Amino acid sequence: MKILTFKTAEEIGEAAGKLFVETVQKKDKAVLGLATGATPVPTYTYMAKACDAGEVSFKNVTTFNLDEYCDLPKEHKNSYYSFMFENLFSKIDIDPANVNFLNGNAADAQAESDRYAAAIEAAGGIDIQFLGIGRNGHIAFNEPSDRFTNNAFKVHLTESTIEANSIYFDDVPMPHYAMTMGIGSIMRSKKIVLVATGKAKAEAIRTMVKGEIDPQCPASILKAHPDCTVILDEDAASLL
Ligand code: GLP
Repeated sequence: MKILTFKTAEEIGEAAGKLFVETVQKKDKAVLGLATGATPVPTYTYMAKACDAGEVSFKNVTTFNLDEYCDLPKEHKNSYYSFMFENLFSKIDIDPANVNFLNGNAADAQAESDRYAAAIEAAGGIDIQFLGIGRNGHIAFNEPSDRFTNNAFKVHLTESTIEANSIYFDDVPMPHYAMTMGIGSIMRSKKIVLVATGKAKAEAIRTMVKGEIDPQCPASILKAHPDCTVILDEDAASLL
């Protein structure tokens, strides 16, 4: 894994954003795997600016988001669907028909997982996958566990994740379940970019980089990926 450290959120957004923009510039029908959370926002701002400046077009791009809450209407302001339209899709020239999300309200989680896996395969696989990291080392919503997962599945979120993400919910309680891409789906991406900022992520980054590959730190599996770039600020890198 290649580790890059920058001082400001803007520099991080530019470094990560350039990797996505270059992928789209090089490949006509690029497939992007996208992430939510506070960390990706500067990257999405960079991508929107590049689109606005005419440097890149997302017209032929297909996207797959990593995860979605269960038991929350798709259009709710806290859904990851709403997050992506607010922070990226409404600011670029993407065709909304080409954006894909797991359905957190699907009655049959296994059928939904199969549908998503088939859609990713039909699109030709993910060219570049964006990741943040949870304080407990989770990627997407793959929580610490005793095994690595494969395709998408329904997950019961841990207390650590519920505590971290509850701050975003003010009108309804944060859901305790989500649908998430599995580790196998993430690892099959051709390229992976993980971004982490802030002291709260330093321990997870240390365990990911320095620890053994262990499903108790799901992000540690990324060491086995042939093309993974980790982009950090000095706080997130402080225990390396
Ligand atoms: C959620 C998302 C993850 C994200 C994590 C960190 O749990 N499912 O994909 O990486 O939050 O979010 P933030 O960037 O806000 O710290």
